[in-house]
Amino acid sequence: MTAAPGKRLFIKTYGCQMNVYDSERMADVLRPLGYAPTETAEDADFVILNTCHIREKAAEKVYSELGKLRMLKEERASGGAAMTIAVAGCVAQAEGEEIMRRQPAVDLVVGPQAYHQLPELLTRTARARGERIGADFAPDAKFDAMTSERIGARGVEGPTAFLTVQEGCDKFCTFCVVPYTRGAEWSRPVAAILAEARELAARGVREVTLLGQNVNAYDGEGPDGAPSTLARLAYALAEIEGLDRIRYTTSHPNDMGEDLIAAHADLDALMPYLHLPVQSGSDRILRLMNRKHGRQKYFDLIDRIRTARPDMAISGDFIVGFPGETDRDFEDTLDLVRQVNYASAFSFIYSPRPGTPAATMAKPVEPTVASERLQALQALLLEQQVAFNRSQAGRTLPVLFQKQGRHGRQAIGRSPYLQSVHVEDADHLIGQIVEIEILTGQQNSLSGALKQATSARSALGPENTPLKQRGPADRAVLAH
Ligand code: SAH
Ligand code: SF4
Ligand code: F3S
Repeated sequence: MTAAPGKRLFIKTYGCQMNVYDSERMADVLRPLGYAPTETAEDADFVILNTCHIREKAAEKVYSELGKLRMLKEERASGGAAMTIAVAGCVAQAEGEEIMRRQPAVDLVVGPQAYHQLPELLTRTARARGERIGADFAPDAKFDAMTSERIGARGVEGPTAFLTVQEGCDKFCTFCVVPYTRGAEWSRPVAAILAEARELAARGVREVTLLGQNVNAYDGEGPDGAPSTLARLAYALAEIEGLDRIRYTTSHPNDMGEDLIAAHADLDALMPYLHLPVQSGSDRILRLMNRKHGRQKYFDLIDRIRTARPDMAISGDFIVGFPGETDRDFEDTLDLVRQVNYASAFSFIYSPRPGTPAATMAKPVEPTVASERLQALQALLLEQQVAFNRSQAGRTLPVLFQKQGRHGRQAIGRSPYLQSVHVEDADHLIGQIVEIEILTGQQNSLSGALKQATSARSALGPENTPLKQRGPADRAVLAH
């Protein structure tokens, strides 16, 4: 394939982190064709909308965005320039034909497991528009085709990166489209993940977040040919020089293995933050949701996790207004939240999704009731989040600095608990993990200061000494 230099690519990403990862990979496969990223659609030769189908609003956004792109495409055409428009992601998978029908400006529809075919498709589209590909699920082909050896180095920005290790879902919660848009659970082999992680570390990545719709169901092929658990994968990743922090998301309560819980107790690199959605606190609603766990099982799990790692920050997802949810059911959700005490959480009003079992269930909840419940739940969750953030004041936490702040020489980093930490006069520390005194905690972030020894530029050599010193002493600080 011949390179076409000077082409501009604009990718707009909706939805979850897996889409963020996929968008980065799409940019990677298109780079050898001469496509460089641009910040706006206006000056792009190729626009990709990487879409999300999880709630109705998310899916509808795509059509309004496509309306705007159609006008841009026409403007560009009148100036003699072309614009190719592709729709990728979960809406592409779920509504490919409808997209083509509703918006003729779309040239390509690409399902989440066909991104490696983009270069070939682009050349074909030059001849015939209106293609839909990737309707079948074949994640192994995608990942195999998108390794660095095949497509050149991964684009990396900053010291943190996502790394998809698992795709798809077999759980079939009655409200959810993911099993239909991403297919069955599938895990990448350990060797492929380690190779990608080593490359990331060599490019300055200090923290990797392992991604999967059910990441803790990971069972990829290990070096011995047998399936590996996520815990075993984490141990192998922790061996990689320079990779100091490992996170993973999203976990399902039923896949939280004892070895993973134990790994949190003895693997310093495994960060003390766990996103463990429960969706509802009512056993009756959990049954209707087909979650296959009750509230007591969730409480027991949280207890075991906190026994292994007392300072674990727990986060979650909640749905209010699921069909048939009564005031009593909702009270059970509030009660669960009070008992668990979340560090952060996402909560949503139930959105009926075509083709899912819940969409035809009896007793839909009035929208006004659902919004009142959402407000009450969010007020409680926010209270817990603020309390958690404030409780950090006075502690010393290792912070991984990621980027420049808004003003002066401020830098923004991440605490072990995934909180944003703002520190003045710290821009020289970007890419490093440094012990920071936490001064205050606010709603969405912490403010901290450099300790005396690190505040002067000269006190810290360029090779960043505090990093590999995390050990038992560090744990004592974290667990206090
Ligand atoms: N795999 C993850 C999350 C998938 S989607 C898990 O099992 O938890 C992210 C979140 O969106 C879900 O946790 C759920 O809270 C929310 N969600 C999914 N479908 C929804 C729907 N139909 N209406 C409202 N929220 C939904
Ligand atoms: Fe959706 Fe349930 Fe699968 Fe999560 S576990 S992706 S909520 S079906
Ligand atoms: Fe949305 Fe698909 Fe992710 S539906 S949440 S982009 S898996």
